[in-house]
Amino acid sequence: MGSGPRSGKRSLQTIVTTDPDDLAEKAAALLLATIRATLASRGMARVALSGGSTPRETYRHLGRGLRAENTPVHLIQWFFGDERWVAVTSPESNEGMARETLLDDVAAPEGTIHSWGAAEGDPRDCARRYARVVRAGLPEDAPVFDLLLLGMGADGHTASLFPDAEAHLSDGRILPISADLPGDATAIEMPRSRGWRLTLCPNVLHHCRTVVFLVTGADKTAALSRARTGSPDTPAAWIRGEETYFIVTRDAMSTSGADGGLDVRHA
Ligand code: 6PG
Repeated sequence: MGSGPRSGKRSLQTIVTTDPDDLAEKAAALLLATIRATLASRGMARVALSGGSTPRETYRHLGRGLRAENTPVHLIQWFFGDERWVAVTSPESNEGMARETLLDDVAAPEGTIHSWGAAEGDPRDCARRYARVVRAGLPEDAPVFDLLLLGMGADGHTASLFPDAEAHLSDGRILPISADLPGDATAIEMPRSRGWRLTLCPNVLHHCRTVVFLVTGADKTAALSRARTGSPDTPAAWIRGEETYFIVTRDAMSTSGADGGLDVRHA
């Protein structure tokens, strides 16, 4: 991808919500406002969705909001930041979850949903293909997602950038996960025989206008603090947009105050 976001200035805000239901409502409102503003100013919106379980309720609220506003969903292009090496019909599929909770609800046209096509052929070839899909789907003069939604694990991973995993690049190289992982998409061999995953690389994830992390649970407190303070060993710390929001539940916030200097707002 090309250079970083155009403006150069970046903002980071942490929005603290009371519980997962409150987070889902507040996150959906932010996503809806971002999509609305993007469509108004650019006429199209390129959105990369997260997988995992946290976004489910947010997606349901977002779908209701998009329908309520009669949003021209044919102007939204949907991508997936990462995917498991399973068919879309699998309960593990990130695309399957997004279709069930959001895309089916808003009747997103098939041509706007850009699937990894996981579990067919070789994971490395799949990643190579998806890199081409993403490049073709983003504007040449500003190859950035308008909106990127991400989750985070208790180990600080985001998308499928797991600190202890290995990236299998399409050129045959096998590299540890790092902030400067080459390429746009890669296949990840999970440690301890936990199979394959597919993920966009920091090179792509880092080039977004608005990045929204959704983080819940006391088990993520340490990782969230590292992610918010930019700890280099934490993949979720590597990804920043022109605007970056951490929308979190109260129980995920550190009580030590060590990172309280950041822009924290209690919603
Ligand atoms: C995935 C996600 C992954 C997820 C985190 C948090 O494919 O699972 O891309 O990065 O966001 O693991 O998952 P939860 O939301 O289930 O806690």
